[in-house]
Amino acid sequence: MEIVRGIKELQTKVTAIKKTGKKVGFVPTMGYLHEGHLTLVREAKKECDVVIVSIFVNPLQFGPKEDFSKYPRDFERDCKMLEAENTDIVFNPEPSEMYPEGFQTFVEVTEVTKTLCGTSRPGHFRGVTTVVLKLFNAAKPDKAFFGEKDFQQLVTIRRMVKDLNLSIEIIGVPIVREPDGLAMSSRNTYLKGDERKSALCLYRSILVAKEYVAKGERNAKKILAVVQDVIENTPLTKIDYVKLCNPDTLEYIEDGELKGKTLLALAVFVGGTRLIDNAILEV
Ligand code: PAJ
Repeated sequence: MEIVRGIKELQTKVTAIKKTGKKVGFVPTMGYLHEGHLTLVREAKKECDVVIVSIFVNPLQFGPKEDFSKYPRDFERDCKMLEAENTDIVFNPEPSEMYPEGFQTFVEVTEVTKTLCGTSRPGHFRGVTTVVLKLFNAAKPDKAFFGEKDFQQLVTIRRMVKDLNLSIEIIGVPIVREPDGLAMSSRNTYLKGDERKSALCLYRSILVAKEYVAKGERNAKKILAVVQDVIENTPLTKIDYVKLCNPDTLEYIEDGELKGKTLLALAVFVGGTRLIDNAILEV
């Protein structure tokens, strides 16, 4: 496994690899890896000849009051995990390599970023799309792998790829959960004591929503109410949002009857930690 820190160096390597006809898979991450990330790496290994994983905590996608400086980092541990998955290249640039002095160009997907996390975290998706396009230009992948855990991110990246005519296939990978149902996240490490138990309310509320739909409930307001109820009755929690959306446009469905596929998306503070989760409800 090679560790590359420079953009030019990575571009040179990838150009040589592609000349031999090999397909390049890419998994962008912010590190502090877990089984969710490793599942993306395994999918990439299955579908591509060479797999590049980036580890870069992107300052541009954190708000001024968010956790950029305390975001968990353990590069050595990450490398051991990636080595065990037969990753070919780890790309680990410094912030000054990605954003040298004078940097002033940004990528913005305007519509699908208006709702959900786009409302709670202004500027977040502009930071994500800007860094992901730069990472794509550095790694030049044939296929790139993203988790459905960050559903709005996946929709936003797909939109960017389409709108900017990038020749990269975007592959979505289902959410990987802990045995008790908590969606894996690097931020789960912030959960202390009883918070870990309270964090289960996100998944529990999703299961309750699915059960209601399975029993024939179609009313959006009623489904939103039971989900909110489960969370509000859990100690240490505060709802950021609980929303039903069109899974393509991410526009809210506030009332009326559910039809076809609907995205249920949640963001909940557990203690000081903001967790997200989602599921597709199908009628
Ligand atoms: P990060 O939070 O490190 O996540 C990297 C990738 O792993 C994302 O595609 C995310 O959706 C996926 N992932 C995280 N937890 C998952 C889980 N439990 N199951 C399945 N996939 C999971 O997302 C980012 O980093 C950044 O925004 C990034 C795209 C790297 C740009 O900076």
